[in-house]
Amino acid sequence: MSPKKQATARIKKLRSLIADYRYNYHVLDKSIMSEAAADSLKHELTQLEQEFPELISPDSPSQRVAGEPLPGFKKIEHTTRMLSLNDVFNIEELVAWEKRINKLIPVSNREFYVDLKLDGLACALVYQDGKFERAITRGDGVVGEDVTQNVLTIESVPTHLRDTQRFKTFLTGRTEIRGEILMYKADFGALNASRKAKGLPLFANPRNLSAGTIRQLDPSLVASRPLRFRAWDILRDNPADVPTFELANEIIKTLGVAVNSQTKILGSVDKIINFADKWEQERQKLPFNIDGLVIKINDRNVYQKLGVVGKAPRGAVAYKFAAEEATTIVKDIVISIGRTGVATPVAVFDPVVVAGSTVRHASLHNADEIKRKDVRVGDTVVIYKAGDIIPQVLRVLPELRPSHAKTFLMEPELRRQYPELEFVRIENEVAYRAKGLTGKLILTRSLEHFASKSALDIDGMGEKNVATLVDANLVKDLADIFTLHKKQIMSLERFAELSASNLVSAISKVKTPTLSRFIFGLGIRHVGAQTAIDLANHYRRFDNLGSSSYSDLKQIDGVGEIVAESILAWFSDDDNQKMLAKFRKLGVWPEEVKHVGGKLSGKKFVITGTLESMGRDVAAEKIRTLGGTFQSSLGRDTDFLVTGQNVGKGKINKANENSTKVIDEKQFLQIINT
Ligand code: IVH
Repeated sequence: MSPKKQATARIKKLRSLIADYRYNYHVLDKSIMSEAAADSLKHELTQLEQEFPELISPDSPSQRVAGEPLPGFKKIEHTTRMLSLNDVFNIEELVAWEKRINKLIPVSNREFYVDLKLDGLACALVYQDGKFERAITRGDGVVGEDVTQNVLTIESVPTHLRDTQRFKTFLTGRTEIRGEILMYKADFGALNASRKAKGLPLFANPRNLSAGTIRQLDPSLVASRPLRFRAWDILRDNPADVPTFELANEIIKTLGVAVNSQTKILGSVDKIINFADKWEQERQKLPFNIDGLVIKINDRNVYQKLGVVGKAPRGAVAYKFAAEEATTIVKDIVISIGRTGVATPVAVFDPVVVAGSTVRHASLHNADEIKRKDVRVGDTVVIYKAGDIIPQVLRVLPELRPSHAKTFLMEPELRRQYPELEFVRIENEVAYRAKGLTGKLILTRSLEHFASKSALDIDGMGEKNVATLVDANLVKDLADIFTLHKKQIMSLERFAELSASNLVSAISKVKTPTLSRFIFGLGIRHVGAQTAIDLANHYRRFDNLGSSSYSDLKQIDGVGEIVAESILAWFSDDDNQKMLAKFRKLGVWPEEVKHVGGKLSGKKFVITGTLESMGRDVAAEKIRTLGGTFQSSLGRDTDFLVTGQNVGKGKINKANENSTKVIDEKQFLQIINT
C-alpha cells in the first residue's frame, strides 16, 4: 500500500474514533478513553494531516471544536466565538509557534502571558451593568447551552461584580468573563469517599464530574456538588478596555471573580520551558488538576491582529504536559529469556513519548496477560507511564485494529523464536521456562562468550576459570568481573597470587573495547561477529543501538526480522538494562566508531557482486584506511553502492530508494586511487 493510501485509511479510523470519544465526552459526559489517549490520537491525526494536507477535510476533528448543545438546554449564540487552542507538546513545537508569529508580526521584546491550563470545562459568564445575567457553555464554540440556573449555584460566581473605582467602566454595559468550571481534588475525593461508603458507583475524575454536573437539568443537584469557577479572559464591546492579558487577570480579580494567581509574564521560550518544567513537577501540589500551560501574546492588540486559523487563535497555544498515557502501534511481540530462563513476551512498538521519556517496549508479562488484554501485533495500544513506574500496556483500541493484525500464540512463538530450546509450563504457574537452563548455566556460558577471543579477548578467562568464578558466586552478571579484586580471586582453589593478579590486570585492560567486540560479547542471540560489526558501523555509539527501533534495525541490510527481534528483546530485558548501567558506572564502555581524517571520511560503502581487481576484504581495507566505512549491507545511510559482476536488481533498487549513489568498479577505483 502506498504511504498516502495507508494514511487515508488510518486517518479515517482515527477520525471516527475521535468523533466517538468527543460525542461521549462532551454530549453524554461519558469517557470511552482517557483524555491523554484521545490527545495522543488527535496528535497523530494532525501530524498525518500535516504530511498529507490534501487529506484535510472541514469535518475532521482537527478542524472543529468538540461538543454540541444538549437538547435539554436553551441554545444561545456566543457574541464572540469561543475558540479552542492548538496544542504544543515540546520545546521544538513551541519554538516553531514563536517563529510563525514573529514572521507575521515581528517584535524584539515579546511578552508572553503564561497561565496554568485548568482541567475543567469552559463557560462564559455574561454581566450586564455589573449584574450576572447568564452563563453559557462553550458548546460548539458558536452556540452554547444556557446553564444560568446551574451556574447560579456556584458560590465562586458572584451575582454582582464588585464595585471598583479603578475599573468602573466594567460595571456599565456588557462584560463577559470566560473561564473554567472545575472541582478541587479534595472535594472530589470527599464526594467519592462518601459514595463509596454508601456503596454507590464512583466518579472517574473531577473534570468529568464537573462536566456531568453542569449539564444536570436539576439545579438542586448541582448545588450539592462543590463546583468552582476560575476565569481566564474578559471581553468588552470596546477592546481598548483590556489592552493586555496581564491587566485582564487583574481586572477580573478586582471585579471579584477568581483567577489563577500563578500567571506570569515571560520574555522567552526558554523561560516558558523552565516555568513549565517547574509546574509539571509541582502540579500535584495544586488543589485542582492542570494539564499544561496556556501561553498568549500579552498585547491583545497584536493577539487580535494575528487572527484565527480554523478553530484556534494564532496568538496563543496550549503547552501540554507530558501525558501519562499515549497511543502507539505494536510492531512485534518478542520473547526475552531472562536470567533464570523464564520467557517473557515483550511488546515492541513505534517509539512514543510518555511522561517525558521515550518508550519503545513494554513487558506483557505472560501469555495469560496477552490473552486477557487481547494484544495483537499491529494493534494500537494505550501505554501508561507515570513517574518512575515501568511503562505498561494499558489496553488495546480494537476500533483501530487493522485486518492484518496478528494474534500472538506463546507456544508457536517460542518454537519460532527459540528453535534450539525446549520450554515447559510449570504447573500452577503462568510462566514458561527454558528446560535444562539454570541461572548459573546461562551465566557461565555468557561469560565464556564475553571473554572469548573474538569478543573481549580476556586472558585467563577460559572455561574452567569462568566456572570457578561463577560457582563461588563472585560474579552474578558480565559486569561483575570488573569488580573483582586480587584477594577474592586468590582465595579460590585454582588461583595463586600471580595468576590472580594477572587475571585482574587482564580484565582491567579491556575496559574500553571496540564497539563491535562489545556488541558481539553481550551474546545477543543471532548477533554474530559480522552482524556486530555491521551494527557498530551503522550506529557508531552503543546508545544509538540501544535506542534503535524495529523499523530502524530492519533498514540495515542483513538484519532481518529475527535478528531485529532478538536485539529488541535483549534491550527490553530489565536485567540487561541493569547490567548496562553497572558497566557504565564501572567505567566499562565501548569506544565510539570514529573515522577521523582520510578523504573518504564519513562516507559509507557497500560492495555487491565480484570485483575484478581485488577481493572484497582488500577493498574493505582500502576504504577503511582512507577513513571511510565499509558496510557489509545496504542501509539508509549508505553513500555508495559499488557494483561488481553479477549484481541483483534488488540491491540497486534499494540503493536508489535510499539515494545511495550506485557506482561501478572503474568509478570506485578512481575514487580510491586519485
Ligand atoms: S485561554 C482561545 N486560559 O483550555 C481560547 N484557556 O484547550 C483561549 N483553559 O478553550 C483560552 N485553562 O477552555 C485559557 N488558563 C487558561 C485555561 C484555558 C483552561 C481551557 C479553555 C480553552 C481550552 C483550550
